[in-house]
Amino acid sequence: MRILGIETSCDETAVAVVEGTRVICEQVYSQTEHERFGGIVPEIASRQQIRKIAPLFAACTAEYQITPETIDGIAATCGPGLIGSLLVGLNFSKALAYGWRLPFLGVNHLEGHIFANRLSEPAVEPPFIGLIVSGGHTMLIKVLDWCKYEVLGSTRDDAAGEAYDKVGKLLGLGYPGGRPIDELAAQGDPTFHRFPIARFKSGEYQFSFSGLKTAVAIYLKEQQQDFAQEHLADICASFQRCAVRMLAAPTIAAALEYGIGRVAIGGGVAANAGLRAELKRRADEHNLEVFFPPLKYCTDNAAMIAAAGCYRLERGERSELSLTATPYLPLG
Ligand code: KG4
Ligand code: ZN
Repeated sequence: MRILGIETSCDETAVAVVEGTRVICEQVYSQTEHERFGGIVPEIASRQQIRKIAPLFAACTAEYQITPETIDGIAATCGPGLIGSLLVGLNFSKALAYGWRLPFLGVNHLEGHIFANRLSEPAVEPPFIGLIVSGGHTMLIKVLDWCKYEVLGSTRDDAAGEAYDKVGKLLGLGYPGGRPIDELAAQGDPTFHRFPIARFKSGEYQFSFSGLKTAVAIYLKEQQQDFAQEHLADICASFQRCAVRMLAAPTIAAALEYGIGRVAIGGGVAANAGLRAELKRRADEHNLEVFFPPLKYCTDNAAMIAAAGCYRLERGERSELSLTATPYLPLG
């Protein structure tokens, strides 16, 4: 099946056409209007979605002839995410499906992040332990089959990406802070300062990032004015060392406890070079296989939504056109 996917859950507007796991065309617009506010402003996000969705769809149409005859269905993110942003892509998709008389399906954004792993070569096959790490979520799951999940645990407070963004803001690195921190960390000394690591009882697959974020804030407050600028790379490396350990340790522990030999990650933070290296190192120690989505399919995109939609639509699933957006839609 050839599926048109639309993603507008937060600050990316994305349109893609996917056939099975092959991406035929794609367009992504990442909003930059939030940088000066140091975080997403939902009202601006939804207004920008409205401005961008039609031109992006037109650009995709120009690249690849999208007509009711060349595609077999439409899939759109229906949650979780910002309600104003979600409604734009969802309503655009529903109108298109109605006008073109095509099957329609609402897709869970988190499921999309898992399906990003189907777009890589070689692709992971279930069962595997999945770690979803984005700006809004940090969750460990058992993927028994595609679209069949068991949630093992999630964050008690901040998401991993949120911690990166907040620390990025403290260090004056702009928004979002994940990528600049990752790049600076590669040049710094991870043992420069010991920040705290949140630990939970063995078998409890939980995460907590607010303590680490607060520890960085307190540490910076105690220093002289130019300290952060002079030791930027070292502070980033020290923060990243903790963040990455807190993510990698429970992931590998879950794979061992459940006797599952494969691990895959998804979400914006899955692009993190430090996290990829740490997971690979720990997986190698235990003879586990580790899979990562291509970098461009870690952050929000429509190819992953189309891939997930394709899988479900091929199995005969459909959503009613009365489907509405759900900001806190759970996985599964
Ligand atoms: O999945 P995503 O695009 O949006 C959500 O669904 O939230 O993830 C965005 C998050 C942001 O917090 C951003 O700082 C983080 O992913 N991110 C990274 C990296 N690239 C993006 N975090 C750490 N290292 C990176 N290289
Ligand atoms: Zn996302």
